[in-house]
Amino acid sequence: MLDSRAERDGLPTFIVDAGDLFWKASSLPSQDLPQRELKAELIVDAFAVHGVDAMTPGDGDLALGVETYRELTGGLPVLAGNLTCGEATWPLTRSVEKGGRTVGFIGVVSEKPKGCEVSAPADAVAAGVAELGEVDVVVLLSHGTASKDAEILHPDVDFVVNGHSRQSYNSPRDLGSAWHLGAGSRGKKLGIVELVFTEGATGWADDQRTVALQEDREKLVERLEVAVGQVADATTDIDKERFGTRVAYYEGEIGRVDEQLAEARSAGDSKLNSFQNQLVDLDAKHDGHAATDALVEATLTAISGLEAPDVASSPPEGPFLGSETCRSCHTAQYDQWKSTRHASAYDTLAKDKRHLDADCVSCHTTGYGMGGPSHPSQVGQFKNVGCESCHGPGEEHLGDAEHKKIMNPPAKAVCTGCHDGDRDGGRFVYEDYVLKVQHTAPE
Ligand code: HEC
Ligand code: HEC
Ligand code: HEC
Ligand code: HEC
Repeated sequence: MLDSRAERDGLPTFIVDAGDLFWKASSLPSQDLPQRELKAELIVDAFAVHGVDAMTPGDGDLALGVETYRELTGGLPVLAGNLTCGEATWPLTRSVEKGGRTVGFIGVVSEKPKGCEVSAPADAVAAGVAELGEVDVVVLLSHGTASKDAEILHPDVDFVVNGHSRQSYNSPRDLGSAWHLGAGSRGKKLGIVELVFTEGATGWADDQRTVALQEDREKLVERLEVAVGQVADATTDIDKERFGTRVAYYEGEIGRVDEQLAEARSAGDSKLNSFQNQLVDLDAKHDGHAATDALVEATLTAISGLEAPDVASSPPEGPFLGSETCRSCHTAQYDQWKSTRHASAYDTLAKDKRHLDADCVSCHTTGYGMGGPSHPSQVGQFKNVGCESCHGPGEEHLGDAEHKKIMNPPAKAVCTGCHDGDRDGGRFVYEDYVLKVQHTAPE
């Protein structure tokens, strides 16, 4: 998938996943299951191409059903020593040797999947360390709330990869005896950690830590200066106190970072192994990988061939009406809307064969999952980001003698429901964007 530096240099590469790989939440609408299974098969096939060394199931993965999960991952190194789902259990650890170094993996689940039992994760981690014995690096794959990972640690664990919380850490968190890694959600980023061994060393130092901490410090100093200014400008006692609390907070944070900087600098002298972490955006910047692209193509074709599930083929009646209904009375607004990208948002998906993809339709159609369509096969007149995406459903407006009862102007929060800072490429700036959708040019 990715031409990482490690691969380029021919260094041994270990690939892991810490769960919620196939689906993100512990429940899954049944009409989405067939599509979700096809995507899970795609991921499994891609792992067969690229290899995977250890993985842990998430509550989201098991939302596909325990049997389905087991069938999908039959040939894969799933670890989950403290998880029991009916008859199903999984190993706790696995050691993998490549290029003369042995990495020991432990898989532990703290977030309880539906219909499964989870036993004390901290005990499982300790048992895992004992089971692994002598290895060069111990990596814990943890599927649970990231903020609780520190509580389940054992001193011999070197790295913790969290798969449940959706945080992405550019600079890994210091958990005391281990480093915390997270690469965010929706497969948007790949976390790559390069390990450099020092003979005779134990423990790990983050090569970029000093730089990262200095960046943190600069940001804090900027915010402190703003807060100091706010105290100076404050006209009421309440404001003085409020901004004063901010000043104290930033001073405290700067002190904390200074301590960590001093620690990081002195650690530079002692004998530690070192690592560098990077998060790589898995976006269109990367050249395709022919074998993976072929798998994706085949999956999209399979999705278009899926039989429509047991939902009505036309969307439910009301409260959404569709943009054509508004056109008769609001021709000017309609014509202006037609000239915006909203009016072709569905075609954008269709061009790439993504219009039947349940992960895409909601923001490229109108009223999806909010009383309008609830499956890609029933979007009907709700293709594209129509009038009611911004103004809300029109049923009451039409029934209202005074033609009120409709949102005007739409709240900013309506926009950010779709322009969410993530799937929109992070380009949204309300003040600029709203100028392009207003129906009359500002005077
Ligand atoms: C039968 C004619 C008719 C239809 C159909 C209609 N409207 Fe209206 N709409 C009106 C009239 C009349 C007004 C009030 C006069 C005005 O301010 O233009 C109005 C006002 C509005 C306003 C401003 C409301 C306010 O309180 O400021 C919005 C927004 C609006 N319509 C959106 C829509 C949308 C979206 C649709 C389609 C779902 C729609 N309208 C369908 C006749 C209609
Ligand atoms: C239902 C989801 C949804 C809502 C709500 C929504 N948008 Fe959009 N918006 C989109 C999509 C999807 C696109 C991209 C369409 C395409 O290119 O195919 C887009 C594109 C745009 C563009 C074009 C960007 C460009 O550079 O040409 C602007 C401007 C915009 N939206 C502004 C807004 C504003 C302002 C609001 C709120 C008042 C809003 N949108 C509400 C989904 C939405
Ligand atoms: C959470 C809402 C949301 C979802 C889900 C979503 N999109 Fe979009 N998409 C947007 C918005 C908003 C824009 C407009 C971004 C802009 O130009 O500022 C957009 C723009 C686009 C564009 C225009 C080019 C670009 O990158 O801006 C394409 C292509 C696209 N989306 C494809 C997809 C596909 C494929 C999926 C499913 C994998 C998807 N979208 C899911 C909100 C969404
Ligand atoms: C991307 C969001 C968005 C979409 C989609 C949208 N509008 Fe609007 N609409 C606005 C905003 C913002 C305003 C308030 C600013 C303005 O007056 O243009 C508005 C105002 C209005 C008004 C009040 C009168 C006016 O022109 O100011 C009417 C009527 C209206 N829209 C109808 C429609 C109709 C009909 C459609 C579909 C053809 C539509 N809108 C699609 C954002 C949207």
